[in-house]
Amino acid sequence: MKILVTGGLGYIGSHFAVCAIQASKEIVIVDSLENSSLKVLDAIESITGTRPVFYQGKVQDRELMTQVFNAHSFDSVVHFAGYKAVGESTKEPLMYYQNNVAGSAVLMDMMKEYGVNKLVFSSSATVYGVPEFVPYTESHRIAPFNVYGHSKAMTEVMMQGLCEAQPDWSAIALRYFNPVGAHESGDLGEDPKGIPNNLMPFITKVAVGELAELGVFGDDYDTVDGTGVRDYLHVMDLAEGHLKALSWLDANKGFKAVNLGTGNGMSVLQMVESFERVNGVKVPYSIKPRRDGDLPAFWADASLAKELFDWQANRTLDDMMRDSWHWQSRHPRGYQS
Ligand code: WQD
Repeated sequence: MKILVTGGLGYIGSHFAVCAIQASKEIVIVDSLENSSLKVLDAIESITGTRPVFYQGKVQDRELMTQVFNAHSFDSVVHFAGYKAVGESTKEPLMYYQNNVAGSAVLMDMMKEYGVNKLVFSSSATVYGVPEFVPYTESHRIAPFNVYGHSKAMTEVMMQGLCEAQPDWSAIALRYFNPVGAHESGDLGEDPKGIPNNLMPFITKVAVGELAELGVFGDDYDTVDGTGVRDYLHVMDLAEGHLKALSWLDANKGFKAVNLGTGNGMSVLQMVESFERVNGVKVPYSIKPRRDGDLPAFWADASLAKELFDWQANRTLDDMMRDSWHWQSRHPRGYQS
């Protein structure tokens, strides 16, 4: 039986693809290549020795998805495909709702039509919004305050409703915190198009000389050193969490939302200092004004993932720093280098 992996050439999807293949799973990838490239498929093949079946296109393309479901008998779906830039989502709400929410609805409709009733969804801690308490537990209220976060929360609601209507369904929404790092080979990693939005790819681009300096968005928050605090987890730990979530689907019915994080918060300056210490590379930075929409500090309570499917983040901050640099230093311009 096979796993359909939507967005399987993206940053997290491609790391999951490697994990799944190395766990002897057969996968089929659908990816629009809007935020990835065919070079990622080459990298997956070079790491695993397997070149997954690949279809280029969007999940909301019913004609394409009919072709895919007609051609393959899937046991489950892992759904990564989605736009994920918070700032862009505020400027282009309908594009995000169309792609992230309507696309997910088409996917679930196709799954229902073809009798595929196991789904793991790439959700985000952004659904929690302004913390009532930290660490966030899964029972924290759902109160996203940006379109991207709303699109993830709406998809979770659709999953829950479908599982209530279809008792044979099992579905998990994995609420990611801040994925960083890269596969140990150094040939698979994060390769954002243009100027990175996220902290880690910005740090590595400065370190490799592609960008001049890091702008630190605010140092006047009520945190250990005034800079923003987040729960950074290694992308390989995150990928392995999806495999463990799939095992939960095999043995359970119904819907669950589960945090995937380390349970530790790190500040921006702590990340910079760790990167410099581990890799012996300077990262020039300057303090800039706060970024609109940023929260001061949050991190995960990841105990439910441990309880449900025995997952916990194992890789250390040093692993994250080393692997990020290994990727970026081998590929200064990402997959184009
Ligand atoms: C982390 C910290 C910034 C860049 C977002 C999405 C989330 C997920 C991960 C998709 C903050 C600071 C950053 C920079 C900086 N995406 N920073 N200079 O905002 O926590 O989460 O990305 O799933 O859903 O909301 O991640 O990496 O952008 O920021 O100082 O150039 O680094 O202020 O404190 P964020 P981030």
